[in-house]
Amino acid sequence: VSAMIDADDLARAAAALQCGQLVGMPTETVYGLAGDATDQQAVAAIFAAKGRPRFDPLIVHVADPEAAWNVAVRDPLAEILARTFWPGPLTLVLPRTEVIGDLVTAGLPTVAVRCPDHPLARALIRAAGRPLAAPSANRFGALSPTCAADVQGQLGPAVALVLDGGPCRVGLESTIVRTQPEPIILRPGGISREALEQALGRPVAVADRSGRAAALPPEAPGMLASHYAPRTPLVLRQGPWPGTADCALLAFTGQDLPTTAQAVEILDPEGRLERAACRLFAALRRLDASGAARIVAETVPDEGLGLAINDRLRRAAGMG
Ligand code: TXA
Ligand code: MG
Repeated sequence: VSAMIDADDLARAAAALQCGQLVGMPTETVYGLAGDATDQQAVAAIFAAKGRPRFDPLIVHVADPEAAWNVAVRDPLAEILARTFWPGPLTLVLPRTEVIGDLVTAGLPTVAVRCPDHPLARALIRAAGRPLAAPSANRFGALSPTCAADVQGQLGPAVALVLDGGPCRVGLESTIVRTQPEPIILRPGGISREALEQALGRPVAVADRSGRAAALPPEAPGMLASHYAPRTPLVLRQGPWPGTADCALLAFTGQDLPTTAQAVEILDPEGRLERAACRLFAALRRLDASGAARIVAETVPDEGLGLAINDRLRRAAGMG
């Protein structure tokens, strides 16, 4: 990819960020809507562009693992995770330093920080010379964008430009981990629970809805159940085909397909969870555009990236 970096676009994007403007930034997980994390007006512009409530804090992105400790206070577990998984699809929630203002963190004493594994993202953060706040580059509650055209379509008017880094390798968001007082996954994502446990040599819990809510500001609980959602109503498939001919199916391996459906997407015939994760949002987007009255989605095994896939499907179904 680095051979494809367009130096003019990169310089334009960095200059725009330094002026407080927003940029569509590719990462290995999903595209981000990036702004200067140290500029309150740029951060306010991110919330406005996304239509995102200000109680929902943003992730701060750094170019190199070491730079994370300018914005966040490390602890021994965080150091192990950073060393093992950065650059990569892991976000750490840690106490913040004074570099980070109240708006980015929605007033929380903690900040979410991540070093993305994408050469264009890291080059952009370096060129801008400051940490970048970047939520996924979608309107609030909608599906995260996994290619530059998705960002242009949803947020084109809000950004100075969208850097095109190609389709996202991981395809769903980073795993969010809080290390204190005990390590806990606040959002399953591109790094599996098993990999975290292996690195730490101890069990890692996964927060349920109340645990996630407890990590957010008091205004937030209960507000974030329906998320990552297509516009078409989505239900989870349990057992035999519950749909009618005007329903669309999101299938895992394509076993047990209905004879009539408005549209069918198969995530991976061979049942590979990483492939399925990578294709999830694009498949949902196509089903959303199929004109179906309802999307019926199959869940996948709750292991590896399956935990994150099922989390997104449950939330798309409004089941938190
Ligand atoms: O892969 C990703 O993480 C992508 C790319 C662009 O890096 N970003 C992303 O950001 O998914 P966003 O804003 O869509 O989701 C960030 C989540 C929010 O749900 C927010 O509640 C949580 O991170 N979060 C942010 N700061 C937090 C904090 N201090 N404590 C707990 N949760 C936090
Ligand atoms: Mg998001």
